[in-house]
Amino acid sequence: MRPLLFAANWKMHIGPEDARAYFKTFRTRYQRHEGREAWFFPPALSVETAAQAVRERADMLVGVQDIYWEPKGAFTGAISAPLAVQAGARAALVGHSERRHVFGETDEDTRRKVAAALAADLAPVLCVGEKLAERDAGHTLAVVNRQLAGALGGLDAATLARITIAYEPVWAIGTGRNATPNDAAAVHKEIRAWLVARGAARTRILYGGSVNLKNAADLLAEHELDGVLVGGASLDPEAWAQLVQTAAA
Ligand code: 13P
Repeated sequence: MRPLLFAANWKMHIGPEDARAYFKTFRTRYQRHEGREAWFFPPALSVETAAQAVRERADMLVGVQDIYWEPKGAFTGAISAPLAVQAGARAALVGHSERRHVFGETDEDTRRKVAAALAADLAPVLCVGEKLAERDAGHTLAVVNRQLAGALGGLDAATLARITIAYEPVWAIGTGRNATPNDAAAVHKEIRAWLVARGAARTRILYGGSVNLKNAADLLAEHELDGVLVGGASLDPEAWAQLVQTAAA
């Protein structure tokens, strides 16, 4: 069994001081469950505080929302994988739709970032997903396959096993409109087939996009989903603790 993964992407919310208070609440409200992990992606400025706060919980870890692929140098404003590791990060989101569509990140950028994360021993969480127009044109699977091949093409099975995939349809992010469990499962099956063809059957595949307390259990009842990647509904520590606690109970 792949452990269920509940990943919280705080995006541009929750500074260091608020992060400390967040974990104080979360840690008391959420007791460890067998076969369940909680990962947190705070803004980079809060990573160190967050990493300290989860230090004694083997079921929790902290990652960064983005990295630059160079390990060091004159890249003002950027954060490298080794710097993230030094702050306590153990994972990195790569290719989140907001990085792709707000900041213009390309498939080639995601390939370099995955490689940089792996080199620094950060677990990459590669985000893929189609825009609404692409879905309407029937191009969902072509887009997702292109994003997978662009970021992961050429990696061997052992390396692919170190990666997590998050399927986040762009039209479902922050819109309150989530994919149905069936919609999500159909794409997850395709991603699974892509991975299995390369010998990586154990790679986890998460779903993201307007996941909340009301729909999480239905989504996770779908066996194709190994967890969720959640934005808005992860910002309140009590509600997030309740979601991680009760979904897929
Ligand atoms: P929402 O859960 O706010 O829709 O965000 C999803 C997401 O982008 C997580 O990475």
